[in-house]
Amino acid sequence: GKGNYRHFMEKELHEHPAVLGDTLRQYLDPSSRAIALPPLPFDPARVPRLTVSACGSAYLAGLVGRYWIERIARIPVEADVASELRYRDPPLPEGGAAILVSQSGETADTLAALRLLRKGRQSVLSVVNVPESSMARESDATLQTVAGPEIGVASTKAFTAQLAVLACLAIGFGRARGTLSGETERALTAELLEVPSNAALVLEQDAEIRALAAEVARARDVLFLGRGALYPIALEGALKLKEISYIHAEGYAAGEMKHGPIALIDSNVPVIALCPSGPLFEKTASNLQEAAARGGRIMAFTDAEGAPALRRFAERVIVLPQVGPEVAPILHAIPVQLLAYHVAVLKGTDVDQPRNLAKSVTVE
Ligand code: F6R
Repeated sequence: GKGNYRHFMEKELHEHPAVLGDTLRQYLDPSSRAIALPPLPFDPARVPRLTVSACGSAYLAGLVGRYWIERIARIPVEADVASELRYRDPPLPEGGAAILVSQSGETADTLAALRLLRKGRQSVLSVVNVPESSMARESDATLQTVAGPEIGVASTKAFTAQLAVLACLAIGFGRARGTLSGETERALTAELLEVPSNAALVLEQDAEIRALAAEVARARDVLFLGRGALYPIALEGALKLKEISYIHAEGYAAGEMKHGPIALIDSNVPVIALCPSGPLFEKTASNLQEAAARGGRIMAFTDAEGAPALRRFAERVIVLPQVGPEVAPILHAIPVQLLAYHVAVLKGTDVDQPRNLAKSVTVE
């Protein structure tokens, strides 16, 4: 049941800390702080390229995974939505491998992409939440997200659990390839071990996010901006807002804004910025400042280090726990989902069962 929550989605949003902890414990030994992956169907030290594919939010998790795997393990990664990949007839490298991501493990396009990749002699690793699913059965190996049943149609806790698995994979691959020093590995795993408690701190900002939702609920269009691994989180924020509140939203790479979408900016279009401190902070902040100079109302998610610079021009600044740039996308995913939830509640939509959507899309 829903317990004391109004909707399954609200309950599931509040399960983020527990689910992140349960999932991380599968692949990260807290005492040794070492990544412990099950046997993989390919050798990450030798794989020439990885193909990442999925649909919807699971695909966006895969995009974050691409940033991590490329940066941490230096493996080239190609990513595409399954409905495109399956008809592209892409050239696949000999000895290549693929990572497919799915909550249900039954999504028709993702399953078709899986079959295409296996036919192309790629080793297929699936990140799935339902262990007895078709995708789990047909993959060479499966890494389970330990999110428990997800009832709300919009994916929430399964998404952050997917991120947790992909982060562990990237670190494990990095170790196998020798691209990661022991010191960096320990620093990253220490940060991951803090993610559940930091996720709980993010949830404590519910009232602030609800206040932001009251503004967003009045808008007809909303823009989400982020750079690097925060770009897929901007896409996730836009996707979630569209699907449950029916407000038109777009996610953009912050640096792409001046190539078109900046024309939309006026005081009626809230700009939700995902801008944690880190190597890309200055770049994103300057894109936001440009939007603010054109009348854009900037609502920024950042951390204590990023907040002072953003407060100079942003209308609202929501300060998340201070973490390193690698785990920031996991923490930023939570408030964008929570924002969509509160906007939908204010709009009075059917939060758990949005119109025209099914939990598991088992037909093309
Ligand atoms: C968005 C959402 C969908 C799913 C997509 C894939 O909130 O829930 O975009 O992520 O339909 O579903 P799975 O993960 O079951 O393959």
